[in-house]
Amino acid sequence: MQLIHSVAELRARLAQEMSVAFVPTMGNLHEGHIELVRIARQHGSCVVVSIFVNPLQFGPNEDFDKYPRTLEADCAKLQGLADVVFAPMVGEMYPEKQTIFVEPPPIANELCGAFRPGHFLGVATVVLKLFNLVQPQIAIFGKKDYQQLAVIRQMVIQLNLPITIIGAETARAADGLALSSRNQYLSADERTEAAFLSQILRGMGVALKEGETGYAGLEEKAGAALAKRGWQVEYVAVRRQADLGVPEKSERYLVLLAAARLGKTRLIDNIEVGL
Ligand code: PAJ
Repeated sequence: MQLIHSVAELRARLAQEMSVAFVPTMGNLHEGHIELVRIARQHGSCVVVSIFVNPLQFGPNEDFDKYPRTLEADCAKLQGLADVVFAPMVGEMYPEKQTIFVEPPPIANELCGAFRPGHFLGVATVVLKLFNLVQPQIAIFGKKDYQQLAVIRQMVIQLNLPITIIGAETARAADGLALSSRNQYLSADERTEAAFLSQILRGMGVALKEGETGYAGLEEKAGAALAKRGWQVEYVAVRRQADLGVPEKSERYLVLLAAARLGKTRLIDNIEVGL
């Protein structure tokens, strides 16, 4: 496994590779990330993982400075799994002030986008830059960030990128909490409570499978249950899997998404429900 920091070295290393599978990350790797790398291994002869905490996708009051940076431990976890780890400095990714951006599709203004203005513009812009640098045939993203995956899929189609996007299932702790680098911000009590987010989504899924079609009522009830236990709820939403639009009652492929804060920590989760 080769650790590369510069764009020039990355381009030289990948110039002859014909089958590159790519996993973009912000590091602080957990089992969810590693699972994406295992999937990449099945799809490419050269597996590239990027580790870059992208300033452009963090809002002014978000956790960019405090985001955990653990490059050495990350590389140890990737040993034997990845061929190349690309960990650039900010100046390497942003050689001059960024004034050209990828304007994401309208869906990027809803759900998480409504609470994190500019976030998906930052994500789409850095992912396109990374795609330009790595030039993968395949790229793997987690369904944990369902809206991000939807934005990337639309970007690849609409900008005619020759890249196949694979969505990987969400890796969870034994109690159902979706693995996330941000879980380590939680106190012990918050960590216990955090599992409730996935439980409430599963409960909504059961109701939908039993024939419930009052989506707004379900969303409200789940939001109220979270708030009653001390969560600050941003949204609970029933959407279409295909494009995250608001579903008709006849829709069979649904996804239930939620974002809420426990103390200072913002958690997101979602589950797909097929009827
Ligand atoms: P990061 O949060 O590090 O996540 C990197 C990838 O791992 C994303 O595709 C994310 O969806 C996936 N992932 C995170 N937790 C997961 C889990 N529990 N199960 C499965 N997959 C999981 O997402 C980003 O970084 C950034 O926005 C990035 C795409 C790298 C652009 O900066």
